[in-house]
Amino acid sequence: MSPVSATFEAATAFIQANTEIATPPACPEVRLWTATEVTPLWEATEQALLRVNLPPPYWAFCWAGGQALTRWVLDHPELVRGKRVLDFAAGSGVTAMAAAQCGAARVEAADIDPMACYAIRLNAELNGVAVEVLKDDVVGAACRWDVVVAGDVCYEAPMTAHIWPWLRQLAADGATVVMADPGRAYLPKTGLLKVGAYTVQTSLDLEDRAQREVVVFQIVG
Ligand SMILES: C[S@@+](CC[C@H](N)C(=O)[O-])C[C@H]1O[C@@H](n2cnc3c(N)ncnc32)[C@H](O)[C@@H]1O
Repeated sequence: MSPVSATFEAATAFIQANTEIATPPACPEVRLWTATEVTPLWEATEQALLRVNLPPPYWAFCWAGGQALTRWVLDHPELVRGKRVLDFAAGSGVTAMAAAQCGAARVEAADIDPMACYAIRLNAELNGVAVEVLKDDVVGAACRWDVVVAGDVCYEAPMTAHIWPWLRQLAADGATVVMADPGRAYLPKTGLLKVGAYTVQTSLDLEDRAQREVVVFQIVG
């Protein structure tokens, strides 16, 4: 059976069989079901995915952008405390976990990959926090959040073109929209104010270097 068409129980079994509980180097406050052996999981998932045309297992890793964004939230808990927060393109949901730990009033995590949605549920359970998972594409939804965080989302041109106008609109509608980017090719050149920077350790399985400089930006109107 393909894990991506599975029930929550089957997806849980797949995730737990192919990942281990680990803490990202930049934000050890958060525990995640993480792939330590990158290649076997990628291959296992790709074989399943070839049949159903779904994306690779981004959810099994905490990306450089996600690490820095999560560190930024943990370093500025007052910015999410008591707020309605969306972790957009959440992957593992790492930043959603941190927002909940920091006392956000309500945390939602959105990802269009069904396996990511299962992983977020498992990670929320692991961290003992409440995170509501949004499995449909929320791009275009009316703003109902005080804070929107998005880690490592500018790695493909079509995705950036899809999400950028909406993220800007959310900022124009009054949300604080914060992105973290490690130098991906499609990061927009304007409309971003630098609010932080972190050097994070990364896996050479995922990146071409062991450390990445990640900039945290707020979208400005
Ligand atoms: C590189 S991963 C980043 C995950 C996480 N933010 C982090 O930094 O660890 C990008 C994620 O964006 C998700 N994604 C792509 N397009 C999306 C969309 N329109 N809505 C929600 N998630 C999306 C992918 O499924 C993937 O999980």
